[in-house]
Amino acid sequence: MSIQEKNSGSTPVEAKNREYFTTITYGCQMNESDSEHIAGQLQSMGYQFTADIHVADIIIINTCCVRESAEKKIYGKIGELKKLKTAKPDLVIAISGCMAQKDKEALFKKAPHVDLVIGTHNIYQFVENIKQIKASKKKVLAVGEEGERPSPAVPAVRKGQVSAWVPIMHGCNNFCTYCIVPYVRGRERSRPLEDIVTEVTELGKAGFKEITLLGQNVNSYGKDTPTNADFADLLQAIDQIDSIERIRFMTSHPRDMNEKVIEVIKNGAKICEHVHLPVQSGSDTILARMNRGYTADHYRRLVEQIREKIPDVSITTDIIVGFPGETEQLFEETLAFLKMIRFDAAYTFLYSPRSGTPAAEMTEQVPPEIKKRRLQQLMQVQNEISLTINKQLEGRRMEVLVEGTSKNDVHKMTGRTRTNKIVIWDKTQEKIGQLVEVMVTGAQTWVLKGQIAN
Ligand code: SAH
Ligand code: SF4
Ligand code: F3S
Repeated sequence: MSIQEKNSGSTPVEAKNREYFTTITYGCQMNESDSEHIAGQLQSMGYQFTADIHVADIIIINTCCVRESAEKKIYGKIGELKKLKTAKPDLVIAISGCMAQKDKEALFKKAPHVDLVIGTHNIYQFVENIKQIKASKKKVLAVGEEGERPSPAVPAVRKGQVSAWVPIMHGCNNFCTYCIVPYVRGRERSRPLEDIVTEVTELGKAGFKEITLLGQNVNSYGKDTPTNADFADLLQAIDQIDSIERIRFMTSHPRDMNEKVIEVIKNGAKICEHVHLPVQSGSDTILARMNRGYTADHYRRLVEQIREKIPDVSITTDIIVGFPGETEQLFEETLAFLKMIRFDAAYTFLYSPRSGTPAAEMTEQVPPEIKKRRLQQLMQVQNEISLTINKQLEGRRMEVLVEGTSKNDVHKMTGRTRTNKIVIWDKTQEKIGQLVEVMVTGAQTWVLKGQIAN
């Protein structure tokens, strides 16, 4: 998952007697989803969304702290808001998400122009906190520890019209030694199956065609609930919902992904043939130090099983380079592993020490220039593989869900195959949200070019 900055939507052009908010979101899909829930709360208070930061009366920065680079970028962005606050003292600046949960009141010290610091466990307290700030003109710190995530009092306001995120669980119990997520998102809490089914059914009725089930480790869904329903049962239940066309899910954990889930993906009519299965490293020594709970060989056999059962499946992964103790030889093991597995795509990251995690304390930290060189090497190997795999799709007709106009060219449309490959083609009569057949005419590393085939 990549760190992104997103601020989208249209700026209303009505008379300016209403108040506006904007959300700027960094980090993963879970954070994107949280921002939609924040937007829902602010709209219920009468605020309207604007994409223009200069028009906004409330600015929410929903933050990520998974790597230091993300944090630096976000602190830079928060710093930029100072002049807006000086020019408009009534402006409310709120910092939410993982960095807020981690840094708490220290954030006020680093950025005195911030009004609200609100943690990941307090996500549904926006209304009361904004009211309090407006009434008292004082800063508010709302960072609780752990606890249930209550059901949202107001529905999320979704950004897209075609695809929707649906969190099925919050938190993570895995404590991979490099990762900050369990510290800032708390322990695993699964949502009741019926609530998820109801939400997806409603989304279908509202016109959404595709839903993505979200969790840090979807394969451990249900372990903390009194019913026996597990992730496979949930997928199966959602596959029965008539009103939606496609089901995606992320992230799968190689230790917990099992045959039952693979069977359900195989048999589910709507469940897409794509598994995002982060391996992190191809070296057993490093995997053990990472506390991932599987070996490279376990992973290889899992992939074999998936490919055997699900024809044309695409498998993507995440890889960290430069984890403490990664020697040149252990890095070579990861390169060899990539060449053996042949992923459709890999998201590659430089290891970033996160204070408070075990790996940050490990000796044998890898120097930055070595990490960077390894990242380049890894990307080069993977890009070649991705391109070769995509080239094999040339001449094939693929089902594509139309997502919208291409960002770079209004005469082109963009969408995704069931295997999650981005396709771009010349616009004809197709409508957003429609399923179309596209003939692949040209392959690149990250996108397919095509033309409408029906
Ligand atoms: N729960 C998901 C997502 C975790 S964060 C999962 O297990 O895959 C997304 C990715 O960020 C991880 O897969 C990992 O590759 C990367 N990541 C996490 N912590 C990191 C760190 N300290 N340095 C570099 N990359 C990291
Ligand atoms: Fe982090 Fe590991 Fe949990 Fe993923 S599974 S969120 S990498 S601790
Ligand atoms: Fe970042 Fe938090 Fe997601 S640290 S990757 S926004 S769970």
